[in-house]
Amino acid sequence: MVEQILSVSGLKKYFPVQKSFVERLLSGKVDYVKAVDGIDFEIRKGEIFTLAGETGCGKTTTGRLIVRLIEPTAGKIVFEGRDITHLRGEELRKLRRRLQIVFQDPYASLNPRMRVGDAVKHPLEIHGIAEGGEAKKLVLEMLERVGLTPPEQFYNAYPHQLSGGERQRVALARAMILKPDFVVADEPVSMIDVSLRARILELMLELKRELDVTYLFITHDLAVAKYISNRIAVMYLGKIVEIAETREFFTNPQHPYTMALISAIPVPDPKAKRERVILKGETPNPINPPSGCRFHTRCPYKMDICSVEEPQLLDIGNGHYVACHRVS
Ligand SMILES: Nc1ncnc2c1ncn2[C@@H]1O[C@H](COP(=O)(O)OP(=O)(O)OP(=O)(O)O)[C@@H](O)[C@H]1O
Ligand code: SF4
Ligand SMILES: [Mg+2]
Repeated sequence: MVEQILSVSGLKKYFPVQKSFVERLLSGKVDYVKAVDGIDFEIRKGEIFTLAGETGCGKTTTGRLIVRLIEPTAGKIVFEGRDITHLRGEELRKLRRRLQIVFQDPYASLNPRMRVGDAVKHPLEIHGIAEGGEAKKLVLEMLERVGLTPPEQFYNAYPHQLSGGERQRVALARAMILKPDFVVADEPVSMIDVSLRARILELMLELKRELDVTYLFITHDLAVAKYISNRIAVMYLGKIVEIAETREFFTNPQHPYTMALISAIPVPDPKAKRERVILKGETPNPINPPSGCRFHTRCPYKMDICSVEEPQLLDIGNGHYVACHRVS
């Protein structure tokens, strides 16, 4: 039987929209951005589970909810069989050691006034794992492990002295030094030079094998998702519309939105033709998402029922889940 490490059910995050006093007075109500609007999935121990989808669909919010950086509006998060949705204080602090996140932007996630060595050492100190010379030794080993050599030189450097790729290696070192069980990697290669991406992804795969860690990998780039994932889930406007094993996902996509995303991946061989599904219009506003299926305003296969009834995420076999009236 496949062992689950994490599951979420009915997970929601609504952010109140900031309004001026006059706007509030005129509208008389608070509006919410429905960033994550009722999602369910489980992640198996040791796998790389990817969340994909266009900008603003709720990927980062989901990652931040899971590592408990933000409070959910509703729903449940279970980690290793334990409900962690409302953990606080010391219990939450202990959990943080095991659940780490690598942020989307390595420039913003490192304190510019903190030397690299101190930034990587900090988690060891706050979790009481090591201090002084012992902590420094662990940091130097980790810097070397993520390819920042000679490690002594990087230990004393400031973030602004590093390239984007080096900063992302520091962010990985900082997350991995605690030997976590679960890491949310939020677009870890999107801000670095294309030529360096494969090397960073390779490093992440090596660390995963060595440290026996499970990843929730977040990307808007399906070519990256194909390279790294065991399973892929696609989000659209705060909802999950499809989940499948990577091979099944690319050979047998069922949701029209997934099909459109796959068809937009550049083909390396210009002679290899692929039919491109062009989506109409822009992504709708998450404050007031479309009724029924949220994708109906852009879907080339829209039927009458689609704007009325919301399709549920259903198992169509082989662990493949789809939320579309055309499929159910
Ligand atoms: N703190 C916040 N306050 C208000 N709205 C927010 C906040 N964080 C995110 N949002 C909104 O929630 C929605 C989802 O944002 P999120 O950052 O999760 O998307 P994403 O899929 O990670 O996008 P990207 O690919 O651009 O990183 C967006 O409409 C965003 O503007
Ligand atoms: S439910 Fe209807 S609108 Fe939504 S993806 Fe399926 S066919 Fe398209
Ligand atoms: Mg994001």
